[in-house]
Amino acid sequence: MYVGADYYPEHWPEERWETDARLMKEAGLNIVRVAEFAWVNMEPEEGAYRFDWLDRAIETLGAHGIGVILGTPTAAMPAWVADKYPETLAQKKDGTRVTWGMRKNNCFTSGAYRMLSERITRAMAVHYAGNPHVAGWQTDNEIGGHEVCYCASCRRGYQDWLRRRYGTLQELNRAWGTHFWSEAFGTWGEITIPDDAAAHNPSAYLDWRRFFSDLNVEFQADQLRILRKTCPGQFVTHNFMGLFREINYYDLAEDLDFVSWDNYPVHGKPGVPYGASMAADVMRGLKKKNFWIMEQTSGTHGWGTFTRNPRPGEIRKIAYQQVARGADAMIWFRWRACTAGREQYWHGVLGHDGKPLRRYREIKQTAGEYHALAEKIEGTTLKPQAAIVYDYESHWALAAQPAYRENRYHEVLARYYDAFYRAGISVDMIRPDDDPGGYRLVLAPDLYVMPDETAARLAEYVRGGGILLTDCRSGVKDESGLCHERTLPGLLGEALGISIEEYESMPDFEYRMAGANGFDGEWTARHYADWVTPVKAEVLARYGEWHMEAFAALTRNRYGDGYGYYMGTVCGEEAFYDALAAELAEKAGIRPILAPPAGVEATMREGNGRKIVFLVNHTEEEKEVGLPFAGTELISGKKTGMSARLGRYGVAVIEIDR
Ligand code: GAL
Repeated sequence: MYVGADYYPEHWPEERWETDARLMKEAGLNIVRVAEFAWVNMEPEEGAYRFDWLDRAIETLGAHGIGVILGTPTAAMPAWVADKYPETLAQKKDGTRVTWGMRKNNCFTSGAYRMLSERITRAMAVHYAGNPHVAGWQTDNEIGGHEVCYCASCRRGYQDWLRRRYGTLQELNRAWGTHFWSEAFGTWGEITIPDDAAAHNPSAYLDWRRFFSDLNVEFQADQLRILRKTCPGQFVTHNFMGLFREINYYDLAEDLDFVSWDNYPVHGKPGVPYGASMAADVMRGLKKKNFWIMEQTSGTHGWGTFTRNPRPGEIRKIAYQQVARGADAMIWFRWRACTAGREQYWHGVLGHDGKPLRRYREIKQTAGEYHALAEKIEGTTLKPQAAIVYDYESHWALAAQPAYRENRYHEVLARYYDAFYRAGISVDMIRPDDDPGGYRLVLAPDLYVMPDETAARLAEYVRGGGILLTDCRSGVKDESGLCHERTLPGLLGEALGISIEEYESMPDFEYRMAGANGFDGEWTARHYADWVTPVKAEVLARYGEWHMEAFAALTRNRYGDGYGYYMGTVCGEEAFYDALAAELAEKAGIRPILAPPAGVEATMREGNGRKIVFLVNHTEEEKEVGLPFAGTELISGKKTGMSARLGRYGVAVIEIDR
């Protein structure tokens, strides 16, 4: 198993490298990522390449059995690039260029930037293609987390992209509905950048997001082409940002060997990091396979102010949470806190003093455990029977028109996701055009953009025996952001057995909500209400107010061999979502691995005839977890009994007896 750190040899005197490599080796590290911001060190002047320092660093590491991942350095441009080619700097809305000195501040349609980026990539690729210590590559760094450029070249790029998508202006005018507000275009050149999510035509805004995403994917593709051709034996990945939403990550992942991602879940007071789990599942879903952690939290971090310090045991626990969800490699950010620059307080395995202290010892312990576990977990992954549709386009379209103030896509998904998590049921995150057929249960919350094919596929899924749940604002829009000319829920009407003629947001009031037909409980409906008419569906929850008596809040409909559920509001109580998750799992015949106590995460990796259960205690209290199977806890090597005891931030990795 690859276990390592993000290392910046250029930040330290060369005499220190040997000590670093030795300490890494002693900690069990066998890989480092290097060079992803070292452009100026490798190309101090245009066309003059210098790799001697990096060669020596790689040699030093290699002598200790430590391999490297090379980052293409294009996320931070040298001063000479900006000085010589000012058009490479992103242009702000007011027409001025950003000031050089940050990273991620370039224009992506700039020919000069694209050329220079290709050149440094090629120079590195040619130089390191045959290097036995180079395991693979990371393209750029966290693509998408940067300035948006409003220059004339980006505007023209957008116009060209539209021309390729729509072919004729007539088609674009139709797709965007430009009969509104005198928006019809007579020439492609008239089209402006519609970047104001709250004010511009939502169809235009959606296409702008698509264009921006494609542009970034294309930027990566330039580098990929070079790396594939020149370094065929070395892998190529990219460090994604989990729940980051500006780029269509499915597209960005498409041509990579695997996805890796950067995980920093230590903010606020200690609690269950549901978000880090959901992000891991999104990452696993991008290519439907396991992923790497390219940057993992190893200390307090921040650029000006910083987060709390991970408590003893927490660094290990955070890392195990990811392995439990499919991480096959663990790379901690960063090896050592830098004494200079913007990230001085982004603490690493070592502090400014370079001494191997508490955090080093915790990482050493964790790395040792991973090497011991590697043989068992290799070739295993999660195999959930439930899935949640995760859609970037709905996300973007909702940013322009959330319908109710509190409609935040991730929060909507999390209400369901967290309930399944608490129940010990894992889910896959899938794309809207994936075949849902492989799952017994599919949730499609807030699936706002719903082309007819998607709706038809989901309806067919239910008819064939699938269990589907969808909810508020799903199926409102077509793929170009126009409202469907149908009574909601449109083509899902039959599968869900309902009709929604009216709806409202609830800015400062709530409704009472009561369960029905065996789905018992009393809750509050808030933020938004569909006035759902149950045409054929059974009512599972209704609203309490006089004018809402005819309408349902939650419905269940038998359709073909399956069931279609609709949730027409947002519920204020977590317990409601727990009850709903239990109802859905029961109908789908999905059983949890075990019943985890509050604050304990339970997942299972399977493969090669093995079933390995991971238990992660996210709390500071001791937890007792009942085990409905016999097995061996692999870290201690001990046979398990009726239950496992997890200490504060404790973990257990249990192979179930065959
Ligand atoms: C990450 C980034 C790293 C480092 C870190 C701390 O998101 O990839 O390069 O900058 O944040 O800011």
